[in-house]
Amino acid sequence: MKLIMLGPPGVGKGTQAQKLCKEFDMKQISTGDILREAVKNKTPLGEEANSYMTLGKLVPDSVMLGLVENTLFNDNAPTSYILDGFPRTVPQAEGLTKLFKEHNDEIDIILLFEADSSMIVERLSARRTCKDCKTVYNLISMPPKTEGVCDHCNGELYQRDDDKKETIQNRLKIYTKQTEPLVDYYSTTGKVKRVEAAGSPNEVYQLTRKQIVK
Ligand code: AP5
Repeated sequence: MKLIMLGPPGVGKGTQAQKLCKEFDMKQISTGDILREAVKNKTPLGEEANSYMTLGKLVPDSVMLGLVENTLFNDNAPTSYILDGFPRTVPQAEGLTKLFKEHNDEIDIILLFEADSSMIVERLSARRTCKDCKTVYNLISMPPKTEGVCDHCNGELYQRDDDKKETIQNRLKIYTKQTEPLVDYYSTTGKVKRVEAAGSPNEVYQLTRKQIVK
């Protein structure tokens, strides 16, 4: 199964992707995680991406398409995965469609997560992520058992640089302008499934599952 997750920053895509991957043995391909790892390791990709990410801007389409092509189309590529955070612009979606055509493959489902922006700002401001295994927590809705420490691997929890209030607002504006048009782009495929993401993580997971398991 191959899924795309669409939805504003902080709506809970990563949280739901981690749950789905556990149950359905899929691989989460988060372009945000790949870029953050590159920034941490100071690779050429990381050096290029860093200035965009800290301002909440999108990394250029050509860079992202190259990265995704290398990840999805090689001999060791996963066969069942969730694209979390890609595509994010119409040119990225067009590029992805072209790549799938060339490889005689297709996406099965596009999950669209929706919640209002005040809830999103609240969620992002309280997010903490494990530096090692990338598990996502929330100081209000999903706190770790011990403050600052990952329940799963004892890794250190940190707050992302782009989870500051001004950057969150910028990311939301960019989502509306550059990513929301993808809903129209994919509307004719009949593959877009909407998920109301305002409930608790487990409630949202049940709604997500229903869109996948018929
Ligand atoms: P990326 O890492 O993809 O960030 P994002 O899309 O902004 O999404 P987030 O990770 O912020 O949120 P999420 O929806 O996954 O929410 P989460 O589950 O963590 O991208 C970062 C940057 O990288 C971009 O700004 C850009 O610069 C660059 N980039 C990445 N991909 C790119 C691309 N394709 N093109 C160009 N640039 C790209 O949840 C948020 C919080 O809420 C957590 O604390 C969680 O515990 C909590 N929570 C989740 N669900 C619930 C719930 N149901 N109830 C209560 N709390 C909840």
